Amino acid sequence: MILDRVKPLDAILATAEKKSLHRTLGAFQLTMLGVGAIIGTGIFVLTAEAAQKAGPGMMVAFIIAGLVCAVAALCYAEMASMVPVSGSAYTYSYAVMGELLAWMVGWALILEYTVAAGAVSVGWSGYFVGLLREFLGIDLPAAWTLGPIDGGIMNVPAFLIALLVTWLLIIGTRESAMVNAVLVAVKVAALTLFVVLALPVMNAENFEPFAPLGFAGISAAAASIFFAYVGFDAVSTAAEETKNPQRNMPIGLIGSLAICTIFYLLVAAGVIGTVGAQPLLDAQGNGIPAGSSELTAACAGLATEAVVCSKEALAWTLREIGWQQIGNLVGLAAGLALPSVVLMMMFGQTRIFFVMSRDGLLPEALSKVHPKYKTPHVVTIITGVFVAFFAALFPVGALADISNSGTLFAFAMVAFAVLMLRRTDPNRVRPFRTPAIMVVAPLAIAGCLYLFFSLSGYTLALFAGWAVIGLIVYFGYSRSRSHVGRGIVDVHEDDAGIPPQPVPPLPGVPTPGGKDA
Ligand code: ALA
Repeated sequence: MILDRVKPLDAILATAEKKSLHRTLGAFQLTMLGVGAIIGTGIFVLTAEAAQKAGPGMMVAFIIAGLVCAVAALCYAEMASMVPVSGSAYTYSYAVMGELLAWMVGWALILEYTVAAGAVSVGWSGYFVGLLREFLGIDLPAAWTLGPIDGGIMNVPAFLIALLVTWLLIIGTRESAMVNAVLVAVKVAALTLFVVLALPVMNAENFEPFAPLGFAGISAAAASIFFAYVGFDAVSTAAEETKNPQRNMPIGLIGSLAICTIFYLLVAAGVIGTVGAQPLLDAQGNGIPAGSSELTAACAGLATEAVVCSKEALAWTLREIGWQQIGNLVGLAAGLALPSVVLMMMFGQTRIFFVMSRDGLLPEALSKVHPKYKTPHVVTIITGVFVAFFAALFPVGALADISNSGTLFAFAMVAFAVLMLRRTDPNRVRPFRTPAIMVVAPLAIAGCLYLFFSLSGYTLALFAGWAVIGLIVYFGYSRSRSHVGRGIVDVHEDDAGIPPQPVPPLPGVPTPGGKDA
């Protein structure tokens, strides 16, 4: 039962070929898309959480998480170039491991995208609060800028930005390549400025003790900071809009990851070397949990502030080392750029929902298109309400960890699928072949599992609960309605532009329509 209902790869590819999405993205745009989706709350905000978990050892955490992503990306690249269609890990799993596992992957991707959008909203809120304070002298009360677990009541700015992005998506805002390029430039400039100002004034003593909470702390930090790399897989969801995906997908995936890894290591070194990154400990010498009201209380009692307490780690660090205005500018860069990460995450979610409903596994009503805006407004509103709710109530670190659990599961499955497909379909053309597959894929699986099990018990319990709900929905609803299960192998074509922007038909190309069941 586990491996039944495989959706034939050739049917998936044939569907993709029939579609009339414009293939406009090249290697450079894809890399920019990747960098745009990757750089966000992880480096701008979670650096403080990683420091609270691992101290200066967070450098190692960044390396571990980066390595796991690198091997996972190599596997992703083989799949994405071979199956250049929407739905990323979900679609790949459907083709290789069958519907049940594909469903579980799609279900996990909901965690990845929706909860991640919530996390980035909370990350943005920290910078927004700092900007209001620095530029306008307005100090918003903590009760309304922190969720209850953080010691507040509700994070109103995070709630509002999630709703604003939802509205933008409903009215059909898709980040244009131009806007993305500008925001990538803003983020890269901000990080470059940070590195250039911080590295020269580093103090080697700040790296001691290097791992105050041992390797367990480093593992926990790696599992959390993995969030900073999430997003490169968003590149693969653009496969249907990519020119020569066989060549450009792998470049986009691996190129964006490489650029971000270098920045992250330099930025982490800059934070540690300038302001120190020692965690706050409780009376027993244990690290106080990041994102807890205990940590908020401990921070309130400090004579001099610490980076682990900051909700805007990079801006705060620059201000501490005397670059007040540049710190504010870096804050402004984060304030401007993070909403686009929220937008991309929510957009990715609507895509996944869309493909799942196209396959009959979720109600077709979800992919209803708004008569005026031509966007899948139903699924966007549902996603937006959940994102806003998560953003209002939960701390950024907890949301990032929950999102990571879903992502790690999906990545491990993709690596497994690549390995399996090499055995079951060895002769298929693979425009990009993962090098040393027998080493890389097992490493990717092992790395994802290692990070997965380094997440907190609370996160793993939530993941398990979510998986159980997923199984109930699958067996209670989806299995009997599945198109593949009902023998409908091909899929609708009239959805080609979904989430749609009205795409004018090319001269001489018939408008797609009808279904071939
Ligand atoms: N990698 C993205 C971020 O850090 C999700 O915000």
